[in-house]
Amino acid sequence: MKPVKRPAERRQVTVLFCDLVNSTSLAEQLDPEELMELFESYYAVCDDVVSTHFGYLAQYLGDGILAYFGYPDASEEAAPNAVRAGLRLRDSIRRIDSPTSEALRCRIGIATGSVVANAIQHNETPHKAGLMIGETPNLAARLQSAAEPDQILVSENTYRITTGLFHHQNLGRRELKGFNRAIPLYAVGEETDSSCRSQARWKTSVLPLIGRQQERELLLKTWQTACEGQGQLLLLQGEPGIGKSHLVGELKRSLIDQGHRQMSWYCGPNTRESTLHPIAEQINRAAGFEKGEADESRHEKLAKLMQRYGATEARSLEVLADLIGLSGANRSALNELTPEKKRQIRLDTLLAMIQAWSNGEPSLIIVEDLHWIDPTTLELLDRLITTAQHQPWMVLATARPEFITPWPSSKHGVHLNLERLDRTASELICSCLNSEEALSPQLTRRIVERCDGIPLFVEETTKSMLELVRAKGPDGGDGIDNIPETLQDSLVARLDRLGAARRLASIGAVIGRSFSYDLLESVASQPDDLLREQMDDLMESGILQVSDQIAGEAYEFKHALIRDAAYETMLKRERQILHEQIAQTLLCHFHQLVDAEPQLLAHHFTRAGSFAQAIPHWISAGRRSADMASHEEAVQHFQTALDLLREACSQEDLPASLELTLLLGLAMSLAGSRSYSAPEVGLILEESRALAERLDDSQSFFTILRGICNFAIVSCDLDNAERSAGQCIQLWEQAQDPIHGIEAHFALGYVHYIKGSMALGRKHLSESIQLYHLHKGWDLSFPSTHDPMIGSLTALAMVEHAAGDPSQVAATLEQAKQHALRLGRNYETVYTMGHELLIHVLQGRYLEAIALSDTILSISDAYGYLTWRAIAKVYKGVSLAQAGQADPGEALSIAMEGMREQQRLGVMTLEGFRLAEIATLHSLAGAISEALSTIHAAEEAVNRSGESYFLPLVHVRKAGVIARAMGHDKPGVLEILDQALAMAKRQGASSFATMINEKKQVYAREDVGSFSL
Ligand SMILES: Nc1ncnc2c1ncn2[C@@H]1O[C@H](COP(=O)(O)OP(=O)(O)O)[C@@H](O)[C@H]1O
Ligand SMILES: [Mg+2]
Repeated sequence: MKPVKRPAERRQVTVLFCDLVNSTSLAEQLDPEELMELFESYYAVCDDVVSTHFGYLAQYLGDGILAYFGYPDASEEAAPNAVRAGLRLRDSIRRIDSPTSEALRCRIGIATGSVVANAIQHNETPHKAGLMIGETPNLAARLQSAAEPDQILVSENTYRITTGLFHHQNLGRRELKGFNRAIPLYAVGEETDSSCRSQARWKTSVLPLIGRQQERELLLKTWQTACEGQGQLLLLQGEPGIGKSHLVGELKRSLIDQGHRQMSWYCGPNTRESTLHPIAEQINRAAGFEKGEADESRHEKLAKLMQRYGATEARSLEVLADLIGLSGANRSALNELTPEKKRQIRLDTLLAMIQAWSNGEPSLIIVEDLHWIDPTTLELLDRLITTAQHQPWMVLATARPEFITPWPSSKHGVHLNLERLDRTASELICSCLNSEEALSPQLTRRIVERCDGIPLFVEETTKSMLELVRAKGPDGGDGIDNIPETLQDSLVARLDRLGAARRLASIGAVIGRSFSYDLLESVASQPDDLLREQMDDLMESGILQVSDQIAGEAYEFKHALIRDAAYETMLKRERQILHEQIAQTLLCHFHQLVDAEPQLLAHHFTRAGSFAQAIPHWISAGRRSADMASHEEAVQHFQTALDLLREACSQEDLPASLELTLLLGLAMSLAGSRSYSAPEVGLILEESRALAERLDDSQSFFTILRGICNFAIVSCDLDNAERSAGQCIQLWEQAQDPIHGIEAHFALGYVHYIKGSMALGRKHLSESIQLYHLHKGWDLSFPSTHDPMIGSLTALAMVEHAAGDPSQVAATLEQAKQHALRLGRNYETVYTMGHELLIHVLQGRYLEAIALSDTILSISDAYGYLTWRAIAKVYKGVSLAQAGQADPGEALSIAMEGMREQQRLGVMTLEGFRLAEIATLHSLAGAISEALSTIHAAEEAVNRSGESYFLPLVHVRKAGVIARAMGHDKPGVLEILDQALAMAKRQGASSFATMINEKKQVYAREDVGSFSL
């Protein structure tokens, strides 16, 4: 095969090394001239074998040769061809006439893997051809040295690709020179009876038929019609790996118990030019030839076979003997026939034999892979189809999309196009192969997304992912985006067929899975008509399709894996140049796109290796996502920027303020996406704190401390929260920045309130509110996620409630509501309502609470405020039960749903109090033991969190639960109430104290049965 000029590229090749055994002793024994002649014969054999197997003989190295398969054009048969060539070389070399007494023998090593292929000029002699750079040629050479005489050793990749085609023997791992890991070795045995990979694949498939039920039924129905005597042709068409053969296999399985005849012809990529090859193979199988069987004996078997099917004419026997390459028989019968006549006899004979074979019985004739059919077989098939019309025959043919059917539709019968599998079916293939659940749901999702519903892709990617997970741990390490080696050759083969449009595919691949025509055009800088022509090629060859992902004229790669293959065949430096070019084009001509999706530009700069330019765009992307509350994306953008920064700079010269900006962005978006209580938020905040201290950057330092304080509050670490809030106050006192003052007093006031220090709480909250008014807080921009005045007013209302001042509570809440209105932000409105709801519950105003929780639920649903939704559900359930508006069981299930949502979100604040309310619901519903265990959990939660404000309240609920559970223990219940009273008094919570006293009196009066909960 003549190599064409191609730029250097990364690609998968199969490399074959062959070396003569004992060549030094040959040199000793032979005269140099004799030796030269011997080598000439040897080289001639190598040349012939390699080229007939579509390989490229790159170098003669003394008594060795080096050959490539799959280069310059990739082929899905590259590795199998290399192995076949190996087998043929071994046999042919033994047959070379040697002047010594011993036959020549060789060792062969074959390896498949990625290399950088140098440009090979087609006018260079093989000796000067460029080498493949990479580990693969070395591996092939080492395998060759490790082989025994006449042995062919292949690498693991080669083995994997060719499994099912040869009988390999696993020799285990061995140390090979130059490799610091033990290398698995496989010795090649004989060929199996599968003639190409697609055939071997379905023969060895372990998967059941997934999906495709309609198609299966259509096949069965067509078979039924054929059985009734109306012959059928069914053409099954679809891309490689879509599952044509699998479906054919399924039909065969379904018919196993039905008496019928069956015959298969396989067309293959290597035999497109061999006349009637599929039939010759079929005859080989039917006649039962054995390996190494002599021609005479084969001839006899053939004659017998033909006799069985009524073909007794000498001429017929000879044309078929000729077809299958039998020599030595009586050829005189053919002598005076023209080639055309021989052809006719051959086709007539075959057709007659098929008819005799079928004998009027239902017959299934399968023709696989018509796109590779040779013209004569196609002619035979055509005649067969005509005959079939009046026979109980079904001709079931498969083909890839490029096959253009020559049959008019009247003759044509059924044409079935196989489409991609849906998501569920792809997932099923994954899970069939992943029966031990070694792949995480994330990896499975990734596979399914990447494989676009092509079962072969799903299967091979899953298998290779399983190998990776086995070797590298549950996340698969950094190889998870690699294309499985079993798919590489066929994917790249599609690209290699492209010609000039290949470059356009590369540019497209660098832009991404989909791209606008405008961008492609700007980067490609080619005349429009040429570009259009090449785009047509890409569309026709099924590499691209029109995309509706992007506005305007846009295209996308039909398969993610084809895009990946196009991307990965480029040299890294070439990709970098293109990424840079795309980034610059975006920057100059695509402002809108850059504004809308700064991450695109950031991505191209990153891939171009221009980190300094990439980072600011990652930051914009992070901020933009954060503004749109797409916190997950924001996290990724900030994280990428941070990684780049750290990669680009050594530890000492990291620009600390930039690092701090990124850390803060990351912490805030993490807090947004996972809540403040996520442990990674705390870690990053701590890291930022150290950095800010070093930098002496008081602005950032404040933001961090405030963040740490929030983190501590929601993770119920109130001591730490108080400490950080105290530090915030210090910063305020030092620099007198009003934002700091307002935030710091709010934070500290909030912590005091929740800890039950009412006086201190009130003091700081009021201070914050005052400062807010003084400095027109509504015009300031605060670092926290919600407005501090709303926070302070609502917390103050809680303090006022405890102090027993209902009219003041109402006034403060009203003020908060007005302020939220003024801010015009829904979040603040809901935040205020959430507190009002809590106060309603505390005040026992359950009807108001029910109405308000419904309002909160509808706003939260509309705007996605998950936390408030969860909380409103809990209080709604509680209030419904307490107000007698719902059956306690039903109310409980609403409340529990809220609890579960809240736990899923990791919302820990006030969890103890809500648990106590749930315990009461259990108690009302008569579920005493749940009530007791829940109240116990509630008490533990409040003690753990230090939310002492709620401690007396939890005790009151506890008293109620216990009174219900063990009515006889009046003194015990009273004791709990007394404890609660003491706590309330210590806190200065006079409304709680009043309420507890009332409960005590009620309890003293009433009998247990009607004890008010
Ligand atoms: N419907 C299916 N359910 C399960 N596996 C499938 C299905 N279709 C195809 N496969 C798997 O995908 C691989 C490729 O299918 P195959 O039938 O050889 O494709 P084609 O003949 O279209 O090139 C096979 O190994 C087979 O196991
Ligand atoms: Mg197939």
